[in-house]
Amino acid sequence: MNAPVATPLIPPRPPIPPHELPLWAFLRAIRTNALTMWTDRAYEEDVLVRHFFNRTNVLVNAPDAIHRVLVDNHANYRRSPASIRILKPITGENGLLLSEGEAWRHQRRTTAPALAPRVMPMLARHITATTNDELQTLAAKAAQGPVNLLQTVQFLTLEIAGRSMFSLEMQHYGAPLRELLTEFAIRFSQPKLFDMLLPPSVPTFRGLLRWRFQQRWMRLIDNIMRDRLAEPEPENPRDLFDLLRAARDPETGERFSRVQLRDQLATLLLAGHETTAVTLFWAITLLALDLTEQQRLADESRGLDITIDVLPRLVRTRAVVNETLRLYPPAFVIAREAIGPDRLGDFDVPARTVLVIAPWVLHRHRHYWRDPDAFDPDRFMPDAPQPSRFAYLPFGAGPRVCVGAQFALTEAVLVLASIIQRFRVELVDEPPLPVAIVTTQPGRQPMFRIVAR
Ligand code: HEM
Repeated sequence: MNAPVATPLIPPRPPIPPHELPLWAFLRAIRTNALTMWTDRAYEEDVLVRHFFNRTNVLVNAPDAIHRVLVDNHANYRRSPASIRILKPITGENGLLLSEGEAWRHQRRTTAPALAPRVMPMLARHITATTNDELQTLAAKAAQGPVNLLQTVQFLTLEIAGRSMFSLEMQHYGAPLRELLTEFAIRFSQPKLFDMLLPPSVPTFRGLLRWRFQQRWMRLIDNIMRDRLAEPEPENPRDLFDLLRAARDPETGERFSRVQLRDQLATLLLAGHETTAVTLFWAITLLALDLTEQQRLADESRGLDITIDVLPRLVRTRAVVNETLRLYPPAFVIAREAIGPDRLGDFDVPARTVLVIAPWVLHRHRHYWRDPDAFDPDRFMPDAPQPSRFAYLPFGAGPRVCVGAQFALTEAVLVLASIIQRFRVELVDEPPLPVAIVTTQPGRQPMFRIVAR
């Protein structure tokens, strides 16, 4: 007799609308949950065009077209007006995320070495020390009853981002950093209609509120920097601040100005914590829904001292992280505005067209993935065929690919392995549906039962 074939887990996703949404519903979906705006066609076709007001919005799935936008002709595409309006208050305009042209190239050349693989051992020490502290707190909380693991991983990843950047100052500044980042997420992160239609230079009332927020946030980062800049530069860098302070553009030898350094720190703090928090949240949720897979991970990490040295042995944990990033990509869209006209295959792109490359859609596209909605970490095991490069884009691609990808993957694998090594994790509530606003978050915060192994 044949062994029974395990049915694959189909994790929660919002229903696909049966018909193309009318304009009002489409705009509402962008503001409230972008994952509800794509119909079946989006998961099957190469290119989908939608016109609204005087704008053309194009969803691009074809690998060649994505390659052209993100790699070959990347200089013709800039961040969309909505991304600039929303992100500027928290990242400033001189950081890596929002700068363009030569200013961006200088930023990228100067910042990338601070996040390169050879720096990971130093950064990983912050990851593991912070995780060990927080998991002790988690064990104490879990003894009292079910816990809110979304809050736990949000606290943990911000603490890791903070300590990796300002190892010395987090004790003093952790609370205000947390408060302002939460205020930003609640008050300013949802795109409004004006954000999508108006160029970033046109003033709006909301823009004024955002500007006032930006003043408070940047003052806080300035204060943290002031204490540190008063000290001499150490011989051995202790954290990202030390690395970025000493960094020089390898082509021009130029250092960051104080404002550039401040915007860079703000950018890396923002870009580097919520994305990793939701990755960990969804990975834990998937493992709570698939207890056999959870046991595999527990077996893999049993008895290991979890440091960067054991990373190469955490192969299955890494596959679970990769599969989580496929099913719940934190950056669910990568949007660009065409500066000048272009041609993508048979399709003419007029200037000012907004191009949407959506990892959420691509990662579930029916032509690129077998059983696209199923949770199957085997896809990412070393002996499995590699997914097509442009069908799997959790970190983007081309010159603007995520500069923190190595750090994010190191963190996600080490933290997930540490949690599953110590605890058996079960969901007490129904799993939440994903909601995409700035990142792919859970629509509610479920409680988990955590039992020490
Ligand atoms: C799982 C975690 C993460 C995900 C899924 C993610 C995803 C992405 C994606 C898709 C992009 C490209 C956006 C585009 O082309 O428009 C990006 C860019 C970027 N990411 Fe990440 N990221 C993560 C973690 C991090 C971390 C830990 C840091 C910093 C320590 C970081 C810093 C940045 C920066 C600065 C950029 C802009 C790069 C540039 O424009 O040159 N990210 N990220």
